[in-house]
Amino acid sequence: MSQRTFSIIKPDAVRNGDTGAILAEIAKAGFKIVSIKKMSISRQQAEGFYHVHAARPFFGELCEFMSSGPIFPMVLEKENAIADLRKLMGATDPAKAEVGTIRQKFAASIGENAIHGSDGEDTAAFEIGYFFAGVELK
Ligand code: CMP
Repeated sequence: MSQRTFSIIKPDAVRNGDTGAILAEIAKAGFKIVSIKKMSISRQQAEGFYHVHAARPFFGELCEFMSSGPIFPMVLEKENAIADLRKLMGATDPAKAEVGTIRQKFAASIGENAIHGSDGEDTAAFEIGYFFAGVELK
């Protein structure tokens, strides 16, 4: 059964000019792009998105980085989309990411790791709703 997940091409990847190459990897892996847009978010909007990490020591740095430049939030669809995107992204720390994964190819550090992907169904529903209105998801 088809499933939707949420992803962000992060400011480091956009700055480095890797957006097109990352989208090509996503398309090659069989994902349909349901919706995508380019935008910048405020520090406060980043804090709302990452609220589950509010107590972590890296929270401030993470929200500063995510509001440091344009991003591409997107909604992706395929069978097993949530798990398959996480596999395609690779480990959070690019130094530990498998060869051929997006983070291994395009990310420099655990804090600036090129791409975000939802880690479960509830998270995906929250994250899609945080960035997209229903009319953008047909
Ligand atoms: P993401 O999948 O977007 O979800 C939470 C983010 O926090 C994660 O990617 C990392 O970019 C970031 N993160 C996780 N661990 C650390 C860490 N130890 N130091 C800095 N950032 C981190």
